Amino acid sequence: MCGITGYVGNRNAVETVINNLKRLEYRGYDSSGVACLTEKGLEVARAVGKIANLERVLDGHTPESHTAISHTRWATHGKPSERNAHPHRDSAGKIAVVHNGIIENYAELREELISEGVVFASETDTEVLPQLIARELTRLSTQISAESFAHAIRVALSLVRGSYALAILCADLPDTVFVARKDSPLVVGVGEGENFIASDISAVIRYTRNVLLLEDGEFGIITPDKVTLLKLDGQIVAREIFRVTWDDAAAEKGGYAHFMLKEIYENPRTVRETLRTRLLEDGTISLPGVPFTPAKWTSFKRIAIVGCGTAYHAGVVGKRFFERILRRPVTAEVASEFRYGDPILDAETLVILISQSGETADTLAAMREAKSKGATTLAVVNVVGSTLSRDADAVLLTQAGPEIGVASTKAYLAQLTALSLIGLYFAQVQGATLTADYAVALRELPSLLERCLQKEPEIIALAEALASSSCFFYLGRGYDFDTSLEAALKLKEISYIHAEAYPAGEMKHGPLALVEPGVSVIGFCTQIETEEKMISNLKEVKAREGTVVAVLREGAKNPDCADYTLFVPGTLDPLMPIVSMVSMQILAYHVARLRGCEIDQPRNLAKSVTVE
Ligand code: M6R
Repeated sequence: MCGITGYVGNRNAVETVINNLKRLEYRGYDSSGVACLTEKGLEVARAVGKIANLERVLDGHTPESHTAISHTRWATHGKPSERNAHPHRDSAGKIAVVHNGIIENYAELREELISEGVVFASETDTEVLPQLIARELTRLSTQISAESFAHAIRVALSLVRGSYALAILCADLPDTVFVARKDSPLVVGVGEGENFIASDISAVIRYTRNVLLLEDGEFGIITPDKVTLLKLDGQIVAREIFRVTWDDAAAEKGGYAHFMLKEIYENPRTVRETLRTRLLEDGTISLPGVPFTPAKWTSFKRIAIVGCGTAYHAGVVGKRFFERILRRPVTAEVASEFRYGDPILDAETLVILISQSGETADTLAAMREAKSKGATTLAVVNVVGSTLSRDADAVLLTQAGPEIGVASTKAYLAQLTALSLIGLYFAQVQGATLTADYAVALRELPSLLERCLQKEPEIIALAEALASSSCFFYLGRGYDFDTSLEAALKLKEISYIHAEAYPAGEMKHGPLALVEPGVSVIGFCTQIETEEKMISNLKEVKAREGTVVAVLREGAKNPDCADYTLFVPGTLDPLMPIVSMVSMQILAYHVARLRGCEIDQPRNLAKSVTVE
């Protein structure tokens, strides 16, 4: 959580870090701030709320500076307020720190420092860091140099427990930014006579495609002409430049009102790209990047699929599909629960970790748990170079491109596509012949998705009819229930309407009591086997005066219990979640728009949840 940028070079540093920070606003937007080195020393500006408020505070007067760091916050310790906004300083105001992560033992460190006479200015965990660095510098009582400052940072970091990505300035060390990373992402964009620091690549890509990815336990000293990476023990690290292949345009809105809408429209391309090079001409599947031998594949007696939020919902679809075609036990679990449930993991278990960002703290913790118990880990991840993509045993990169909207859309379709490929590949290894039908259906998906997008005007009319609903239920059976989970999440996170997914057959075991006028019920009836039963369940809702929306395959009969219908193109049952979801993303988007919600940055949320 939280976004960090930094800059050292000849440009206007404050303008540069703030512009780059806007690319990271999806990571948090409770408050923001900037620190820079000027002739006067260390200058700091901070504001509650979005980055636009920080710009208002600066009022067009950016200090003359060539070295700056900035931060956009998603509050963990201390409420969103100006005094809790980063950067945080030591008491003398000479050291500024921006931090993404959590210092778990901050309370005891704070007590210790207070007992030594330090006065704290904020309620945050972060503030202990500049204070600890300052204490160590005082203890050293030598002239401040890059080396002595680096030493003080390393001592401070040896005292803290928790996670951090840090960028640090010292008033006495112009043209230098210090960085460190443990369990929170940080990259350095390498330029000519200038260098950029950011929580992720999208914030530096407009300036450079040459990136250095910091690893856990690493520390860096960045000047305009040099990036020195070290281990915390001082040992120099040689890191190869990572060359980014996607371009800046991919991280821009491209004429759409919101990133979310742009990303919904990128669904067909995303699925096509995720299939490309994996679904071969002859209908077989190849998974380069997953270097397991056939013997290794068949040694997996169990599969656990783990993720958070949307990624978990993709895993739920994956579980149903894998069990059906592989006839092996599969679990789908929320990453934040996974390791506390003492999961049964061993060398015969494949753990598939799904994540758009590849930085979700709970998903990374699940990967570590799996590895420690001898399981094999396979990451389905979108962000190249992310921790998950680097640390898992094997990786299948989804090809969604940068996803900026906090509500995950195209990444979900990419995850479902990737899971289909993994399941089918495994089946292929087992000697099954079912891939031929799937190959045809998968290839057809992008054009089906284009047809879904063409229905936007119809879905806008539906959104207008439903936008004032007090509550939504999303019902389905089988894969349609799995779709309900993600459809409900999409609506609730951006429109703030309470939305709940239920297996349709469960309604009469309790939730039906909530149905009354003003409650909207979206019923997915796309599964051939359960269509009739679904319609019976929707009739039960209609009898209680709920508003019924039936989502049906094109060509299906219009059920008389439905107040509204939405027809989606049909495909094989297990692939229907991919097709159905596009309409649900569009519906959620327009309901939120009609209610005047902040679509790309919903309240209380952030794109990348890098704290547990
Ligand atoms: O980056 P990840 O895929 O690991 O993120 C997981 C969830 O935080 C994410 O899917 C979240 O639920 C989205 N806001 C859903 O739209």
